[in-house]
Amino acid sequence: MTDQIDVFVREVGMRDGLQSVPEFMPTEAKKAWCTAEAAAGVPEIEVCSFVPPKLLPQFSDAGEVVKHALSIPGLTVAALMPNLKGAERGIEAGVHKLNYVVSVSESHNRANVRRSRAESIEDFGRIAALVRSLPAVRRPKLAAGLATALGCTIEGHVAEAEVVRVAVALAEAGADELAVSDTVGYGDPAGVRRLIKAVAAAVGGVTVTAHFHDTRGLGIANVYAGLLEGVDHFDTGLGGLGGCPFAGHKAAAGNVCSEEVVFLCRELGIETGVDLDRLIDCARLAETIVGHALPSKLLNAGTARPSRPAQAA
Ligand code: COA
Ligand code: ZN
Repeated sequence: MTDQIDVFVREVGMRDGLQSVPEFMPTEAKKAWCTAEAAAGVPEIEVCSFVPPKLLPQFSDAGEVVKHALSIPGLTVAALMPNLKGAERGIEAGVHKLNYVVSVSESHNRANVRRSRAESIEDFGRIAALVRSLPAVRRPKLAAGLATALGCTIEGHVAEAEVVRVAVALAEAGADELAVSDTVGYGDPAGVRRLIKAVAAAVGGVTVTAHFHDTRGLGIANVYAGLLEGVDHFDTGLGGLGGCPFAGHKAAAGNVCSEEVVFLCRELGIETGVDLDRLIDCARLAETIVGHALPSKLLNAGTARPSRPAQAA
């Protein structure tokens, strides 16, 4: 293990994954997931979503999960919030980072958060003002996801100019980070490269990150495309769990798989600070927690060569 991290793998399975799991995962299981993955060296985990508990009962224990995650030394604790009320709850809980979301396609934004993109962007401005008004020690980082940036199940093609327009509006409103998000897995490596270039050029100093889903098998290729464009923060899901329940039937495929992204980086000689063997153990734990097999290829096949010497018999 090393302190030097070149690429940050950020676990989002506890939010993006669990939001599509209808059975309530016991709070203790969520805590165990967090502890194990942080111990494997994952530097940041999006541990929950501050949404109305009536809408997504899975996150009704958000406060308790955050409290536990904050007790883990060195871990950056992030949470999703769809509106100002969610941000207030996240700040109250003391998260290090608030992840907002706006869909670039109007219809998906309405399906997801029941309002227009313009209203979402205005709300983000209010959240940014709230965050800025806090004393520095209590001020979380503010990130925004550009959902459906590579295509939408409702509207189909999403124009690059629209992605850039929404990205610039969020950057001007005060985002520290912007995640180019392929919510429904329509992206391909060439499109990913073009879009990341365009967004990064338009938003100046704001960090551009990537959030890809492996809906159609191109997830890891898209991560590679992101790496080629200099992206060094990727959202991933243990075992490939994940998916947006508001994107439409069959669209809720998993995030790019955490252990596969770490494996890719290892093979490319890129340091993630994550112990791959321990991460694979975490994916097994996630399978136990959700109660079924997960799509990760690495979980089934193992790494091509052992990353630590086999024990002598
Ligand atoms: N946390 C807790 N309660 C909240 C809340 C939040 N973030 N936001 C709103 N509420 C409460 C309101 O106080 C209100 O309560 P009341 O009925 O007791 O008065 C109720 O929920 C409805 O509030 P309203 O502002 O009208 O929300 P809405 O019904 O229009 O829903 C969102 C809007 C954004 C809250 C909802 O669509 C949402 O949570 N979407 C997120 C979906 C998601 O997580 N997608 C996957 C991630 S990409
Ligand atoms: Zn997602």
